Amino acid sequence: MKREDRLLLRALRREKTERAPVWLMRQAGRYLPEYRAVRAEAGGFMEMIREPRFAAEVTIQPIRRYGMDAAILFSDILVPLEAMGMKLLFDDHGPSLPEPLRQRSAIDALAVVDPQATMPFVGEALRLTRAGLPDETALLGFCGAPFTLASYAIEGGTSKQFSYLRKLMYRDFESFALLMDKLAAQVTSHMRYQVECGADAVVLFDTWAGSLTRTDYLRYAAPWTRRVVRDLAGVAPRVIFAGESDHFLDDLFEMGADGVALDHRTSIGRAFERSKGRVALQGNFDPACLFASPEEVQRRTHALLDEVAGRPGHVLNLGHGVMKDTDPECVGAFVRAAKERVS
Ligand code: CP3
Repeated sequence: MKREDRLLLRALRREKTERAPVWLMRQAGRYLPEYRAVRAEAGGFMEMIREPRFAAEVTIQPIRRYGMDAAILFSDILVPLEAMGMKLLFDDHGPSLPEPLRQRSAIDALAVVDPQATMPFVGEALRLTRAGLPDETALLGFCGAPFTLASYAIEGGTSKQFSYLRKLMYRDFESFALLMDKLAAQVTSHMRYQVECGADAVVLFDTWAGSLTRTDYLRYAAPWTRRVVRDLAGVAPRVIFAGESDHFLDDLFEMGADGVALDHRTSIGRAFERSKGRVALQGNFDPACLFASPEEVQRRTHALLDEVAGRPGHVLNLGHGVMKDTDPECVGAFVRAAKERVS
């Protein structure tokens, strides 16, 4: 099958398709016993990412079990920060960067690097994954958006208040902009590299952008996202995700991306009205609703598809990632419900 004929790619071009393609953010992960087995064999999370054999295996696992229409490479948005020279650790509480960027000299020292030279395991994992996937399954590459990467680089981990980041943005815009310029360049080359190695489309995760007011989003995050999206025009279809972003959704539609991923708080029916056919829309089942019974998951998935009402350009997904205590049966119910509902 030609790459552009894969269901996901047709939906991203907003063509009329027989049904909405389906995949789930964080579809590879700890809710799957086969993932936990590979993680135990590898010895840790970064060990899985750095060994293409393990990374490809866990990327393919959910496809084997459920038959989603797309696989997303098993890696993390923070991997490029490590390649740029930052220390990166993962433990049971999540990621930490023990030497966060708190001085101008640290931002100056951050290097923009060649992905192939510094992260060859990413390309190798993509090649191995493609070889192991059914022909009709699309393969997705991804990156963190510059603003979300900056939040990790400056805070040193996941943050609620982003106080160091906010101080840099408001008090030393020049240093903030230098950091964002470097991150945007790295993100663009990382996405290009993934496409060269077999990714059919790319997803840009701006998980923390929704913590900004619309005015601040437009000033401190959007210019760099727009730059990345523009520089990838013609390279591969681009999907942008920004968590809790209903207050600047119309701006996301204007960013030049092929698809916009919706958080579960947004009404997808209204979002289709607001987008006026400019972009494909991805989403937006509440990941916490996967804690309901399989029958209820099926009912709610059908309700979501009824709200979309067969409009072209829908990619069924969650509004955020699968949570770790999710019952694998409920992920199955979600994917089955999507596949049995033809539009
Ligand atoms: O299946 C997939 O979605 C592909 C792989 C993937 C991971 N992380 C694996 C992962 C992707 C696309 C990501 C993106 C990512 N990573 C984001 C953006 C998307 C989002 O969730 O908003 C962010 C913010 C990160 C940073 C990150 N990585 C955090 C905050 C955490 C800890 C939280 C958690 O769920 O544990 C991680 C760890 C992580 N990344 C895990 C996985 C499967 C769990 C690690 C483990 O196995 O212990």
